[in-house]
Amino acid sequence: MGSTNSAKAIYLVSIIAAVTGLLFGFDTGIISGALLFIQQQFVLTTKMKEIIVSSVLLGAMLGTLFGGHLTDVYGRRRVILIVSLMFIVGTLVASFAATPNMIIFGRLIIGVAIGIGSYTAPLYIAEAAPMEKRGGLVTLNQLAITIGIMTSYFINLAFTDVHGSWRWMFIIGIIPAVLLLIGMLFLPESPRWLVMKGKIDAAKAILQRLRNTHDVHHEIADIQNSLKVKKASFKEVLAPWIRPVLFFGIVLGLLQQVVGINAIIYYAPTIFKSAGFASDHSSILATVCLGVTNVLATILSIYLLDKAGRRPLLLTGIAGMAVSLFVLSYVFHAHSASDILRWSAFGASFVYIISFAVSLGAVMWLMLSEIFPLEVRGTAMSLAVFSNWLWNFIVSSTFLSLLGAIGSTSTFFLYAVMCVVAFVVCYKFAPETKGVSLEKIEANIRRGLPVRHIGIIGQDRHIEQPISDAEQKTS
Ligand code: BGC
Repeated sequence: MGSTNSAKAIYLVSIIAAVTGLLFGFDTGIISGALLFIQQQFVLTTKMKEIIVSSVLLGAMLGTLFGGHLTDVYGRRRVILIVSLMFIVGTLVASFAATPNMIIFGRLIIGVAIGIGSYTAPLYIAEAAPMEKRGGLVTLNQLAITIGIMTSYFINLAFTDVHGSWRWMFIIGIIPAVLLLIGMLFLPESPRWLVMKGKIDAAKAILQRLRNTHDVHHEIADIQNSLKVKKASFKEVLAPWIRPVLFFGIVLGLLQQVVGINAIIYYAPTIFKSAGFASDHSSILATVCLGVTNVLATILSIYLLDKAGRRPLLLTGIAGMAVSLFVLSYVFHAHSASDILRWSAFGASFVYIISFAVSLGAVMWLMLSEIFPLEVRGTAMSLAVFSNWLWNFIVSSTFLSLLGAIGSTSTFFLYAVMCVVAFVVCYKFAPETKGVSLEKIEANIRRGLPVRHIGIIGQDRHIEQPISDAEQKTS
């Protein structure tokens, strides 16, 4: 198949598409700092503040819900191009806004771009990548998300003393957006989407460049076979044979959020402060360290995903998250200002972030880009990602009220229990998709294998012609 000899082109494709993730991380992370300065300039009610913060999340939900089938209809590349334009327009509107309503409008546009981009970019990379490198390459997008979040923390720090700094904080986002636009102009369409649209010659030429070999007919034939077996129009996303993976995807999207990741990401300074890091400075510094750790642990996951596999990372990571949240809950329960407790809270937060990065952080986006059949891939992925944004919104908008209502001990205990639930669900249902072609996964779904086993390669573990046995079965 020539896929071991992949060309530099595949890295270029993955890195440029992953800039979408950078914008996702940056634009969701920047608001916590920017809000402090927006409220110095405008008189804002609490409601208005909440709307400004959540407008990006609302936009992302709208984008995933209503833009879901766009990637299946217009192609992955064209959609990312439109997304980059939306980032540019939204950023300009928010940065030069004369009223809080204009800020909200701009942030809403950015949100729609984030929502659509958040499922299109990993899907585009997964479809271009050779199977043995797919895990690492798709996870470049998650790496970019964490770099975006970390950068937003640094920018928040750097612009703290600059007049009108919220506008500067926002406008920086225009740089990656323009880079994404220019980069995408030069990138090819997804070869798998082209085959689906019957453009075989174009798909072949692109695959030859991506694989650095002329010998791509096997891969093209596999994609064609996967389409031949049974038509799956985008309305068929709810067909009985797709339902189990769709349901699993939607639950995975939910689980990534109900374990409380964004309570920690968005409110880290607040948490560190109440754990005993008295000064603003020390709690913000601790937050920056957390952002850097998130990036480093994601780099580790890129290295491990195609070696150890998805399941071991997922399960070990979720177990680590559960333990660290129980510790955090205990620290708040003990409620004494001892150094041991303070550093335990600090340590637990780091173990939590590392565990998330190598498990639900990296694996959710990766698995969602792998488990859906080609013809409904965009639509199905957007539904699962909608569930992710919905729960992101629910968790981050209820965190502070939850703290007020049931206290920190119970709040972290609740997230810890959610981790236990996530562990059980993933243990029972998450497939191992390492080293399996997307076409083989699809063939297994068509054969009616349980979700847990859709990554099974077959008796002979022959991965060169992954579709052949499925074809025999249906012909
Ligand atoms: C999640 C985001 C989260 C980020 C943290 C992503 O995978 O979808 O909600 O903020 O990871 O690194």
